[in-house]
Amino acid sequence: MNRRFFSQLLAMGAGSLGLWQDRVRGDEEPAQVPAGASPAIQSGAGGKSEPVNVTDFQMLAKVALPPATYDYITTGSTDEVTLRENVAAFQRLRLLPPLLTGVAEVDTSTTVLKQPIALPILLAPVAGQSLYHPHGGLASARAAAAAKTIMGVSSSVGHSVEEIAAASSGPKWFQLYMPKDRAVAKRLVERAERTGFKAIVLTVDLGERKDADKRNRFALPESTLRKHLRDIGFDIPDRMTYAQMMAFNDQAWDLTMSWKEFDWLRSITKLPLLIKGVLRADDAKKAVAIGLDGIIVSNHGGRRLDGVPASIDQLPSIVKAVNGRAEILLDSGIRRGTDVFKAIALGAKAVLIGRPYAWGLAADGEAGVSKVLELLREELVSAMLASGCQNVAGIKRDLVMS
Ligand SMILES: Cc1cc2nc3c(=O)[nH]c(=O)nc-3n(C[C@H](O)[C@H](O)[C@H](O)COP(=O)(O)O)c2cc1C
Repeated sequence: MNRRFFSQLLAMGAGSLGLWQDRVRGDEEPAQVPAGASPAIQSGAGGKSEPVNVTDFQMLAKVALPPATYDYITTGSTDEVTLRENVAAFQRLRLLPPLLTGVAEVDTSTTVLKQPIALPILLAPVAGQSLYHPHGGLASARAAAAAKTIMGVSSSVGHSVEEIAAASSGPKWFQLYMPKDRAVAKRLVERAERTGFKAIVLTVDLGERKDADKRNRFALPESTLRKHLRDIGFDIPDRMTYAQMMAFNDQAWDLTMSWKEFDWLRSITKLPLLIKGVLRADDAKKAVAIGLDGIIVSNHGGRRLDGVPASIDQLPSIVKAVNGRAEILLDSGIRRGTDVFKAIALGAKAVLIGRPYAWGLAADGEAGVSKVLELLREELVSAMLASGCQNVAGIKRDLVMS
């Protein structure tokens, strides 16, 4: 083991997180501690300090992961204008809590698409999780179940729907990237339905162009890519070379979809359908008009077309356009429980987090994801108590200034 790296981890408190030591490989140089790292982590004398917020987990992930994998999770498209704006837009919103409300206890439970959950924070679909921790998406699925919330499982999570279902009986949605071969897509949706997934999320936003990934030549390793394609249901013979698989993967997915895709999905599954990637009120209206059950207001965490607005800034106009005819969720930029509070006050039923739990997974597997959810829950509870909200329904519009 690289002694410098190990002592850096200890000094940062990662030892107390139980970071699995087989990932601390001797041939890797340590990552730099990001500027502005939390004092709670920096002063972790004797490895006693614990991460106290999502940013601490980001730092632990940076230390634990190979740089290209950390960059894949963390960076956004091109100039990262939208990535920064997602966080800045939440920070611009001001809370305005009433005083002396006498509230001593709060209930964070709610329902999403009739599914009761213990907190209004879901795990967003995140690809490639087996690269972040040996237990990958299985660990995330278990953490979501333990927190009594929903995991949105990416088609590219790194495990088959059957493996995820076997790992956790908690509520799960399946996020579909559409294979061009609709027979493969149909079988995949049927497998998700059969293994107990509760909804299908179709992700439709485009325009990914991540400079860091290009610079790092980031790509799935051969065995991971082979498993991924087979998990989807593509016929990938053993003799197919890495280069052939990469070429196959490049053309396997449908990036030219239209609204008709939802009619087709409706014809093959009884599960509720959600659209992910909505930023325009007129698109939200179309989603309602074709009878979709849920709308995820999202810019993919700034990983797709750069320059689009923060999803939180688009939420009010979308809530108005939908007018209660579908459930609205939001992701992109949630880093604090107060962000969850703000999104709910502005009309979201619940939020999803992406990077925060990917960092938690990288830092400490299932325990890391659980801890991220717990920290956000605690921050949400604090905001609810301070604002006199006994329950999620009490998080009203006038608690956020506009
Ligand atoms: C590493 C990574 C991989 C992602 N993979 C997917 C994916 O496979 N499917 C999808 O719909 N969204 C994917 N997303 C986007 C998330 O679902 C979500 O929209 C976004 O992360 C929310 O922003 P946040 O990271 O600021 O929380 C991914 C996000 C990250 C960080």
